[in-house]
Amino acid sequence: MKSNIQPAEGKLGILIPGLGAVATTLIAGVEAVKKGISQPIGSLTQMGTIRLGKRTENRNPKIKEFVPIADLNDIVFGGWDVYSDNVYEAAMHAKVLEESLLNKVKEGLEAIVPMKAAFDHNYAKNLTATHVKTGTRYELAQQVMQDIKDFKEKNDCSRIVLIWCGSTEIYYETSAIHQTVEAFEQALLDDDKLISPSMIYAYAALKMGIPYVNGAPNLTVDTPALVELAKRTNTPIAGKDFKTGQTLMKTILAPGLAARSLGVSGWFSTNILGNRDGLVLDDPDNFKTKEVSKLGVLEDILQPVRNPELYGDLYHKIRINYYPPHGDNKESWDNIDIFGWLGYKMQIKINFLCRDSILAAPIALDLALFVDLAKRAEMSGVQEWLSFYLKSPQTAPGLPAENDIFKQLMKLQNTLRHMMGEDLITHLGLDYYQELVDTL
Ligand SMILES: NC(=O)c1ccc[n+]([C@@H]2O[C@H](COP(=O)([O-])OP(=O)(O)OC[C@H]3O[C@@H](n4cnc5c(N)ncnc54)[C@H](O)[C@@H]3O)[C@@H](O)[C@H]2O)c1
Repeated sequence: MKSNIQPAEGKLGILIPGLGAVATTLIAGVEAVKKGISQPIGSLTQMGTIRLGKRTENRNPKIKEFVPIADLNDIVFGGWDVYSDNVYEAAMHAKVLEESLLNKVKEGLEAIVPMKAAFDHNYAKNLTATHVKTGTRYELAQQVMQDIKDFKEKNDCSRIVLIWCGSTEIYYETSAIHQTVEAFEQALLDDDKLISPSMIYAYAALKMGIPYVNGAPNLTVDTPALVELAKRTNTPIAGKDFKTGQTLMKTILAPGLAARSLGVSGWFSTNILGNRDGLVLDDPDNFKTKEVSKLGVLEDILQPVRNPELYGDLYHKIRINYYPPHGDNKESWDNIDIFGWLGYKMQIKINFLCRDSILAAPIALDLALFVDLAKRAEMSGVQEWLSFYLKSPQTAPGLPAENDIFKQLMKLQNTLRHMMGEDLITHLGLDYYQELVDTL
């Protein structure tokens, strides 16, 4: 497989619909890392290592030295937003990073001015958009394609990826217009309201063979029409919803409880956050999209149907409350009712004082770099190996998602090994164990 990967030559344009808290934290962070001011902590592509071969071989290169991902110095950022603030202003508004840090990279951030957004107020009612394109959905898609072409030319990029960091849209399900590429294209021409703004960006990208990652829980590319379009244009896609904060903790802890056959009868999760994401999620229709995305993970990991004695009565409840004083510093509480030997009850309490965008930015970076790698490795369609980063992983139709973070990591690492022609690691190790035993 290794020989098929095109090298990461030239510049990589990372185009982002939604230049809010996550996107500006990502962009400012990459600029700070490039200047040597900060470290890319939390990014597997930048900090992580990967074991190759047998444990006895002692080969553990950094991932960025093992696979040909783009160098941070070759990245150019751009994007769209419904507000005209440049990235410096938007980052100041988001209040995630300190002003002193932002001022050190101010020039680069000010130069990134959002393009006008493809937007429909009905999909995010709590936003008062002032910087939007006009036209039918078909015309908006054409305009987004033109934006991408212009950006690529102006910045002399050899490749582009799109990563949605826009607000969570209201809850919607697939309908007839989402079933085939032809029906979807007709709906674009008909300016059908069932096509959400995020789908317009995704369609534009996929039509041009540009990888698309969905950092929000919106369905977007998790629809038959856009999956089909991705296949037709040999384009990788990944989604949905960056796995940060509370869900990250859930998918770390739940596999451990299940591994020890400990029972779980209840898991109550509540959050307070006060950023713009929280404001959008304050609308029940938008919250519903997030709730669906967050609810699936426990059921998938604990498998109540297969393990009725341990998880059959599991009560899982999730709340998100908009609380402006906390800004981006989301605070979450989890109360977990578990039971052990002979049914004796115990409790676990988690109080995670996290910083949402600090957790999201490095995974947005990794997803952008990996999806670009996938494109160069001629991998197309749903990239399930990127589930590691996602709260509600998209899978091939009919396949259950894998939410256990440790299995997700193993899949990601083995995919990288496979890409580079290295042996997959099963952790069985019997062959060299026996060799070691025999030499004793
Ligand atoms: N912060 C996290 O840890 C985290 C985790 C998982 C998922 N997410 C998701 O990532 C997304 C971004 O989060 P955030 O905290 O940066 O939110 P944010 O509100 O700060 O930024 C979102 C931006 O998207 C813009 N926007 C909305 N609709 C748009 C459109 N159609 N076109 C272009 N721009 C549009 C908004 O104006 C806003 O600036 C949200 O959907 C959120 O649910 C965030």
